[in-house]
Amino acid sequence: MQKKTIETKVEIYTFEELDKSKQQLINKAKEQVAKAYAPYSNFQVGAAVELENGEIFAGSNQENSAYPSGLCAERVALFYANAQHPDVAVKSIAIAAFTKGNFLPEPITPCGSCRQVLLESEIRFEKSITILLYGSKTVYQLDNVKQLLPLCFEKNSLNG
Ligand code: THU
Repeated sequence: MQKKTIETKVEIYTFEELDKSKQQLINKAKEQVAKAYAPYSNFQVGAAVELENGEIFAGSNQENSAYPSGLCAERVALFYANAQHPDVAVKSIAIAAFTKGNFLPEPITPCGSCRQVLLESEIRFEKSITILLYGSKTVYQLDNVKQLLPLCFEKNSLNG
């Protein structure tokens, strides 16, 4: 029997410690929570995707009375960005969540399906995506999607 330990590197900052461009992307994600359609969960999420060409595309969670038909903010923003610019790599994504009148003090992390979709973009453009997870007390920064999804299934897995 062998054992393998997989480590995830998370850098923890206060908002004020981040450089201006990261603060700007987070602010876009925060603005988006106001546009969420989340009448069922009352949990509003905003995401902002920055492309390598500097353009920013933002999205919010879109719920549905048939619950599984809704979509998380991360996928709304990422699909929107990739649909507008299928040839431009994603540089970073910022995510913020708001409920009961406040932004969450600690970050939320993307769900499994969003991690898989983020991974596809990272692999598709062969370019690491920086992930910024906003909390009003602490902000997490991860250097790439693989940090969030170890032992992942990706296109090379299809080769057998
Ligand atoms: N949600 C997101 O948009 N992003 C996440 O990272 C976690 C969850 C949404 C899905 C649903 O609309 C609501 O938050 C509650 O799960």
